[in-house]
Amino acid sequence: MKITIIGTGYVGLVTGACLAEVGNDVFCLDVDQRKIDILNSGGIPIHEPGLSDIVARNIAAGRLKFSTDVAASVAHGEVQFIAVGTPPDEDGSADLQYVLAAARNIGRHMNGFRVIVDKSTVPVGTADKVRAAIAEELKKRDHNSGFAVVSNPEFLKEGAAVEDFMRPDRIVIGIDEHTPDGQRAHALMKKLYLPFNRNHERTFWMDVRSAEFTKYAANAMLATRISFMNELANLADKVGADIEAVRHGIGSDPRIGYNFLYAGCGYGGSCFPKDVQALERTAREYDQNLLVLQAVEAVNDRQKRILGAKIIERFGQDLSGRHFAIWGLAFKPNTDDMREAPSRVLIEQLVSRGATVAVYDPVAMEEARRVLTLDFESRPELLQRIRFVDTPVNALEAADALAIVTEWKTFRSPDFDRLKSMLRQPVVFDGRNLFEPEIMADAGFEYYGIGRSVKARQE
Ligand code: UDX
Repeated sequence: MKITIIGTGYVGLVTGACLAEVGNDVFCLDVDQRKIDILNSGGIPIHEPGLSDIVARNIAAGRLKFSTDVAASVAHGEVQFIAVGTPPDEDGSADLQYVLAAARNIGRHMNGFRVIVDKSTVPVGTADKVRAAIAEELKKRDHNSGFAVVSNPEFLKEGAAVEDFMRPDRIVIGIDEHTPDGQRAHALMKKLYLPFNRNHERTFWMDVRSAEFTKYAANAMLATRISFMNELANLADKVGADIEAVRHGIGSDPRIGYNFLYAGCGYGGSCFPKDVQALERTAREYDQNLLVLQAVEAVNDRQKRILGAKIIERFGQDLSGRHFAIWGLAFKPNTDDMREAPSRVLIEQLVSRGATVAVYDPVAMEEARRVLTLDFESRPELLQRIRFVDTPVNALEAADALAIVTEWKTFRSPDFDRLKSMLRQPVVFDGRNLFEPEIMADAGFEYYGIGRSVKARQE
């Protein structure tokens, strides 16, 4: 099938590459000429396992093209995916200007039936706005090609996006099918997703608004689980319980399950923080207050400060003269994404109290340098206190303690003897509960996990 993808960001690029991989003829559009040049020369602007091979293979096979030519992109695909950014407005609501600009472009140039698929995460009701924008442009041109607007939210996890697209748990498609155009769109979407419905039907067909809502409900539910576990973990620390034991104890109940119950130093990324806020905002538009979600957000803001708080409790408010090693900067492993990353909060807490830090991440160094330079733009003297190092071991030298913020696999089995000999004091603050408190204590470390309270029990 001929497919157009508008927006070659994270979602658009993965969607386009994976649809080409199963044999479709895919045209990717972006306004950013620099990005298009990188893609056409075989590079990819983001770090995502497996993606660059798929992109290279499909460019070579002639099934994947990148361009800034709007008219050509609208002419190409009978199915047009809108996968542009929806950054939060100042008030937390999703900014739809790029989505609606894409819709208007389609309306301006289309000459035949088109299915417009909202792939960007957009608030409930956006499909209606997209439909209106296209209809308005068609009216201006006095043109009456048929079209249907479909909602098909993505559930891709960064670092596993290719796998999630190729082998999805579920495909959610919202179509209002009471018109012939809607029925035609259903048939096209069914054909398009056939290769991804292995073994059994994985597609949930529903109305457009329910599909739009599903995306927010899923992310809000997951964020809620994490914040709730984090709150329980903080209490576990006080009462002397081990949140990992508790996780096993409750996770064995199939109604609860084990996944997404890991306590840590807070969630980050491009989805949870933004989607939680946007859903609250939608609720307010309808005079509703999502009290649970407000708490989820507040708990997460506090949780991002938890490692810093533990360090301050141990070393005091004034950290001048102190030096800390930080392992892990990206908001989670297998990505270089620094958006809303807890590491940024921790670094600010430490350097603003006079400490210096040596920071390391297996892939996010360049992005971290860029983002932290911006974070400290108005306080360049604090940026001077951050040393970017190229190995985890180099970060340790003469550090008063090690703080782990991201659970990269390479951090899981360090050489503990070396670690101990390099640190000025054998103190580890583990924001992702990578290690067992007892083993760390036996190995001579002063170890602080999240909700693991070994200290409290020892006393
Ligand atoms: C998420 C959703 O999982 C995905 O379905 C959606 O499409 C986009 O948002 P992503 O943001 O890539 O994906 O990352 P995810 O793996 O879900 O992790 C989000 C954050 O939660 C990370 O900071 C992670 O460290 C944190 N997390 C996750 C926890 O703190 N505890 C957990 O148990 C799980």
